[in-house]
Amino acid sequence: MKKLWGGRFTKSAEGWVDEFGASIPFDQELVKEDLEGSIAHVTMLGKCGIVSMEEADTIKSGLLNLLEKAKNGELEYSVANEDIHLNIEKMLIDEIGQVGGKLHTGRSRNDQVATDMHLYLRQQVDEIIEFVEELQGAIVNQAEQHVETIAPGYTHLQRAQPISFAHHLLAYYWMLERDKERLTDSLKRINMSPLGAGALAGTTFPIDRYYSAGLLGFEKIYENSIDAVSDRDFIVEFLSNSSMIMMHLSRFCEELILWSSQEFNFIEMDDAFATGSSIMPQKKNPDMAELIRGKTGRVYGNLFGLLTVLKGTPLAYNKDMQEDKEGMFDTVKTIKGSLKIFAGMVSTMNVKTEVMAAAVKKDFSNATELADYLASKGLPFRDAHEVVGKLVLTCIERGIFLGDLPLEVFKESSALFEDDIYEVLLPATAVARRKSAGGTGFDEVYKVLQKIKQTKKS
Ligand code: ARG
Repeated sequence: MKKLWGGRFTKSAEGWVDEFGASIPFDQELVKEDLEGSIAHVTMLGKCGIVSMEEADTIKSGLLNLLEKAKNGELEYSVANEDIHLNIEKMLIDEIGQVGGKLHTGRSRNDQVATDMHLYLRQQVDEIIEFVEELQGAIVNQAEQHVETIAPGYTHLQRAQPISFAHHLLAYYWMLERDKERLTDSLKRINMSPLGAGALAGTTFPIDRYYSAGLLGFEKIYENSIDAVSDRDFIVEFLSNSSMIMMHLSRFCEELILWSSQEFNFIEMDDAFATGSSIMPQKKNPDMAELIRGKTGRVYGNLFGLLTVLKGTPLAYNKDMQEDKEGMFDTVKTIKGSLKIFAGMVSTMNVKTEVMAAAVKKDFSNATELADYLASKGLPFRDAHEVVGKLVLTCIERGIFLGDLPLEVFKESSALFEDDIYEVLLPATAVARRKSAGGTGFDEVYKVLQKIKQTKKS
């Protein structure tokens, strides 16, 4: 088959070489963006008198026709036409005749593909932000029901201090809030137009880049044509932001998996998000959480893949850059799927409040309360720490917990102890007293939830 760029060639590549070089098997995902970019470009060509208004109209209606067909899944792509850009151009010429060949005036596939990618990511990032918000909403809903659910807080995966379970959940809300901020900020760099940069040097035609950028809703244009066609930073940035989101989800997954284990038994996943075993009838596995944790690997891989593709490419366009697409598509699909499943998992999980509450009664996570108690009565904290450490040791030797120690034992270790310590040692007291800003105190958590709801409304 004769190539659209075949003039200089005396023989055609063999099919299997075409196949290796083609991006159409995956870049057909960009069909809508490619057509929209072309419609804006030809509208600009008409307005600037580079093609006649009549020609522009003919081309535009041909493109609109193809857009309709694309929406109905009626386009048939061919590997011989390499990529989405050449496939569309070929279909256009087949549909409206030779005048279709004027569409490519004053542009190159290099600015065209970059334009498609910017349009695609703008749309996807907008949608992903909504997915993030949906998950945040699910977290807030669970948190609202569990402000007064007391859970063990951990450091080093060792019981540390009792906390409000809502406080723990809301930590993930704030991580996602930063993710959202990063995605929103990245839109500044995504929403700019490379169109009209040509192959690399601009064009001899009197085009109006601001006009076509405006038609496509871009905020600004690339100021340097070489940068415009060489830049894939915005995709790297997207992959990096996505990696951060997956890292956050993966940490959350790890906790959900731990909490679902018989050893913790703090939550039970809804049946809809768990699976059984083909051999062990008793099993209920938190598969979806495991899978999201696992998928984090491919998103990191996509980031490193593209960074590596770009590190040795000279300016401007090189075919290496065709490798920017599959990782991006895969990341979009993975991140959307993971966020959606996550929102479902969080909103349907059953929190075993009793088990959590019982857990903090049988541990030493109230030891800090005792040390704070002594310190608030004037004993230097370091000395208080020492006194309480010894009491913990006594308890361990006797196989009991701090609240079980008789008052005389307390008094023997420090005269500052009075009988109000038993109240202080209660997990609920420990949580309630942590009133410092951003702390786990119940009132503080209620306040934060209120704040979140207010900013949502405004
Ligand atoms: N399929 C190519 C890509 O995805 C489009 C740009 C091709 N440009 C070129 N000069 N070969 O990168």
